Amino acid sequence: MDNNRVYVFDTTLRDGEQVPGCQLSTPEKIEIAKELETLGVDIIEAGFPISSPMDFNSVIEISKAVSEPVICALTRAVEKDIDFAADALKFAKRKRIHTGIGSSDYHIKLKFKSDREKILERAVAATKYAKKYVEDVEFYCEDAGRTENEFLAKMVEAVIKAGATVVNIPDTTGYCLPEEYGAKIKYLKENVKGVDNAILSCHCHNDLGLATANTAAGVINGARQVEVTMNGIGERAGNTSLEEITMILKTHKDLNLHTNINSQHIYALSLLVSKMMNMPVQPNKAIVGRNAFAHSSGIHQDGMIKNRENYEILDPVDIGIPQSSIILTARSGKAALKYHLERLGYKLENERVEEVYQGFLKLADEKKDFTDNDLIVLVEGKLPEEGIELEDVEIVSSQSKGTSASIKLKVNGEHVTGKATGSGSLEAALNAVDQLINEKMNLDEFLVQSIGDRKDEGKVHMRIEYDGQLYMGFGVHKDVIIASVKAYIDAINKVASLKRRLAISA
Ligand code: KIV
Ligand code: ZN
Repeated sequence: MDNNRVYVFDTTLRDGEQVPGCQLSTPEKIEIAKELETLGVDIIEAGFPISSPMDFNSVIEISKAVSEPVICALTRAVEKDIDFAADALKFAKRKRIHTGIGSSDYHIKLKFKSDREKILERAVAATKYAKKYVEDVEFYCEDAGRTENEFLAKMVEAVIKAGATVVNIPDTTGYCLPEEYGAKIKYLKENVKGVDNAILSCHCHNDLGLATANTAAGVINGARQVEVTMNGIGERAGNTSLEEITMILKTHKDLNLHTNINSQHIYALSLLVSKMMNMPVQPNKAIVGRNAFAHSSGIHQDGMIKNRENYEILDPVDIGIPQSSIILTARSGKAALKYHLERLGYKLENERVEEVYQGFLKLADEKKDFTDNDLIVLVEGKLPEEGIELEDVEIVSSQSKGTSASIKLKVNGEHVTGKATGSGSLEAALNAVDQLINEKMNLDEFLVQSIGDRKDEGKVHMRIEYDGQLYMGFGVHKDVIIASVKAYIDAINKVASLKRRLAISA
């Protein structure tokens, strides 16, 4: 066995899916499970079969659809739960039952109204019962984070003796400090007889923002499985995020620990999970947030333009993000301004750059979003007639005939109208725009938000990918479909201006 290999146990479809509003249909779960397989996770926790007929069915269907990772089903330390899990796993090529019980005095006394001896007996009995169905049994000591180490060691030793192949040490309430959680794993490695017959697993919650740090401390101290979710979604403040812990291990080569994760698939899966689960990723989220590779201060931008490694420890390409971005803000310097001028096709003398820079500083102080159009106006005094303007949107939606959209645009000063259909209003409207400009844009990110607590206006951020480059668009309107079309056109205008500038300078 490779002692430096860390197994990745993904619980997006179980702990992640428990979050209110994140529920998925079985086909959606299958789609995510297949992507998790492509990503290279070792174990997929597919559900808690006794909790609902839908969870039961999802475990069955995921077992059929995915062949490489181990498929795992959750149970309580209850025989009926274990029977259900074994039944749901019947089609899995490689299967695991994940059973367990609370180990902290809180759970033993306040939840089970029991005592340590009786809970130990139940732990051993559940492990042995699960072992009748499958060879691979993982046992969780729920609330291990708040369990006294000596009793925890007793439980871990007993379940390993009963046949557990993996023992999960969850910090269920997200209470531990990294040093404390690391020391807990170290204590178990040093004090549990037979500990090397099983893998110790970290399952950390993020109530104090320490889930990833605790998991890192766990593997540094000898755990060899990490339980994670995509984008860190999960109960309350979430679970350890897959992208964070796997990129920590990849980046810190000094730890000499590795996973099977093919990191270039991370970003696509992060977008898929966020979209399907209706959970926008916070812009400053490590690894996958919109701003994770966006540089806005002058000192950083200058360093980035000279050499990316001055300010980036990760290569965005490694995560599947096409490029870093240099954002123009009031804090940007001349290097960033010149970079953007050249990207738009302007090659200006130093003196003229200085003039544009002074104008830019004034304007950027007043504006939140400094756009390519603002830069063009600074250089040319006005926007050329070229570009697209939205004049009207009309949507007709019928249950029997589907949805069609009619869009009126002013393209380079000329009025044009186009019609298209789609599965819904948004798709129909964006298809109509594509048709009019004779281009197919790839939608990379789409975020709808209210403006403060107002019900009467929505704002939309959209990001499109064109020719390997990403372009942001922004739109505001009382109708979110119109706001979306505006954002789409705003992004397209940035592409158009790039093409126009390049054509002029060619
Ligand atoms: O957080 C937790 O303790 C859990 C267990 C059920 C593994 O999710
Ligand atoms: Zn959990």
